[in-house]
Amino acid sequence: MRRSEKVILGIIAAVLVSVFAIKALLGQYSQGPDPGVPFYSDASEDLNRRGNAIYHEQNCKKCHVLRATRDMTLAVPAPAIDGIGSLRDETWLFTYFSAENPQSILPSRLKPEYRMPSFASLPEDERRTLAKYIASMKVKDWYLEEVKKAEYEKLTGKTYTAGAALTQ
Ligand code: HEC
Repeated sequence: MRRSEKVILGIIAAVLVSVFAIKALLGQYSQGPDPGVPFYSDASEDLNRRGNAIYHEQNCKKCHVLRATRDMTLAVPAPAIDGIGSLRDETWLFTYFSAENPQSILPSRLKPEYRMPSFASLPEDERRTLAKYIASMKVKDWYLEEVKKAEYEKLTGKTYTAGAALTQ
């Protein structure tokens, strides 16, 4: 074999080794197709607009995370709203928002100023819209257990063990 042939063979071998090495590396990180964002809302455009307006007027984002948005200045460990509509239905939410004392429905472990406030004084149609809007915040099944876990840990401050869901 001539020297130039050896060089070419050497290059081909190096390229092959690199290709296999890169493939092996990529294989380590890719776990099938990306399942995407698990949260979605099935609200109509109109409900979304009206619900979102009340959510902002009432400053729910002072304590809650929704669509990754929250007030960065307050660190209240309130459950996330994303996916909560898969744990609570519209009727439950309406009753909760209408309660003079929400902690009689869902006990709090927090200082009074951080607890879920009563929205009983909001007009009934706004409470209904809000309940419908929050109930529309769903999570896909493959992420449901994560939402239950996060909610449980926020509400109790304890570590979640499978099956310990709080939803009443
Ligand atoms: C002062 C902070 C604060 C504000 C403002 C607030 N919340 Fe809450 N919310 C909480 C806390 C904390 C909890 C958990 C229960 C508790 O500790 O009272 C909670 C619980 C909830 C729950 C029940 C979550 C679950 O696990 O089932 C929903 C739904 C909810 N809030 C929606 C809202 C909406 C909608 C608004 C605005 C209209 C709002 N909250 C405003 C602090 C707040």
